[in-house]
Amino acid sequence: MASLKILFVTPEVDPFVKVGGLADMVGALPKELAALGHDVRVVCPLYGSVKRLGDWRARAEPLGIDVGAETVWARTWETRLPGSAVPAYFLENDAFFGRPGVYGGAHGAYDDNDHRFIVLSRGALTLCLQLDWIPDVIHCHDWTTGWVPVLLNTVLRGSPLGRVATVYTIHNLEYQGYAHPRAVAFARLPASEFRADSLEALGAVNPMKGGLYHATKITTVSPTYAAEIRTPDGGFGLDAVLRFRGADLVGILNGIDATSWNPATDPSLPHHYAPGDLAGKARCKAALQVRLGLSPAPDQPVFGVVARLVSQKGLDLLAAALPRIITTMRVQVALLGSGEEGLENAFRDAAHRYLGRVGVHIGFDGSLARLIQAGSDFFVMPSRSEPCGLTQLYAMRYGAPPVVRATGGLIDTVEQYDEQTGEGLGFRFDQASPGALADTIGWANSTYYDRPAHYARLQDRGMRRDFGWGRSAAGYVDVYRWAVAARNPTAVTLAS
Ligand code: ADP
Ligand code: GLC
Repeated sequence: MASLKILFVTPEVDPFVKVGGLADMVGALPKELAALGHDVRVVCPLYGSVKRLGDWRARAEPLGIDVGAETVWARTWETRLPGSAVPAYFLENDAFFGRPGVYGGAHGAYDDNDHRFIVLSRGALTLCLQLDWIPDVIHCHDWTTGWVPVLLNTVLRGSPLGRVATVYTIHNLEYQGYAHPRAVAFARLPASEFRADSLEALGAVNPMKGGLYHATKITTVSPTYAAEIRTPDGGFGLDAVLRFRGADLVGILNGIDATSWNPATDPSLPHHYAPGDLAGKARCKAALQVRLGLSPAPDQPVFGVVARLVSQKGLDLLAAALPRIITTMRVQVALLGSGEEGLENAFRDAAHRYLGRVGVHIGFDGSLARLIQAGSDFFVMPSRSEPCGLTQLYAMRYGAPPVVRATGGLIDTVEQYDEQTGEGLGFRFDQASPGALADTIGWANSTYYDRPAHYARLQDRGMRRDFGWGRSAAGYVDVYRWAVAARNPTAVTLAS
């Protein structure tokens, strides 16, 4: 079958700039698609914090982006996704993107985020025209890029981009990018798009909603989340839209970049290991204990956490459960995270109170994240909701069976441990309460001490499981073709 031209428009891409798992996905999936023979490219803003890894060159022609009352000028930088030939373009405009943050800074979200991401969305489309490269599909990610399908269905419908299909991936429905209705004019969209079946919600502009109404096809990052978001409990106000678009919505599980996340080769780790020989993992644990000020106790299981400290991740449950966990169980906790001040303080306090038992680093640190995965015996993820979750996949690959709340992608990826047979991959609990979390950590802990053969099999099974992008990349190709056919029915008839 013919190869496809696919453009990813994204607010984050690993390893250049990352806030969460969206960056991991956008850093990995394009490489898989390119390996399948597709022409894939990525566009992202050049924030002040973007790491300029590899070779970068500025394109000679400035990019004139039609937004607001006049043209906004950007410089386009071109590089490649590391280890591939996939072009990645970064749009430079200091007024909109020169700040270090992606979505905000110390004082919360930037108040011109609507304008910033309209510049990205419109800029990506303008870049296609400038490159004279018309994609078959534009793959959009979360609320920041919801503008792309709206623009293509309205003001750009008659342009050379008018037949381009869009696939809109929901990574996280909790963030919808609410903005002032003025944003519609800034995007140079007709005022009529400010309506309930397009960009309007609760009297404001909601670019996530606009994207959902206008995208050719919609995906989200796990099958269970695809079902949850169609319900009032899981729909964050958009469940009706998702039921309306239900026939065009599928859940495709995220994969991991198995080359980068490999404990046998990961350059961030002080020691390496592989299934069948975990001596290097024991040494990583010792290094982690030193690094986070934990007592050097090789026999005590370490429960690791790496997460954005926000309510979605349920880490307030862990903070509340810690006194019981620490006083009744022989365990240690190693946590890396940053986010809400209250949670940051709660974990800093816990590290002081339980010196040597709870080790905490508040901040964002990619190498420490990997050391925690490698040095932990279990990985804790009590999420209230979890579209997919990547850290539990990394944990399994690094030999740390996860303890997770049964929600979203955690249900699809962490098969429940069966105490009778020893089968499964980790430990799941249903109720989002400190008690249920503590009980389940207790269950994991008793497996470690009392059923070591079962524990070893859980570890081994997780490390050997294929969590790579292979199957899911093929799933995305199917969705791209489905979208192209839906957007261009005549072309399909002619071709068949
Ligand atoms: P989400 O995207 O909701 O944050 P995921 O599990 O999909 O959740 O992905 C989180 C990604 O961000 C993982 O790669 C994880 O290692 C990384 N990460 C989260 N918090 C930190 C942190 N404080 N330091 C380094 N990496 C982090
Ligand atoms: C989001 C979700 C997370 C998912 C990631 C990548 O940030 O919170 O569950 O794994 O996107 O799709």
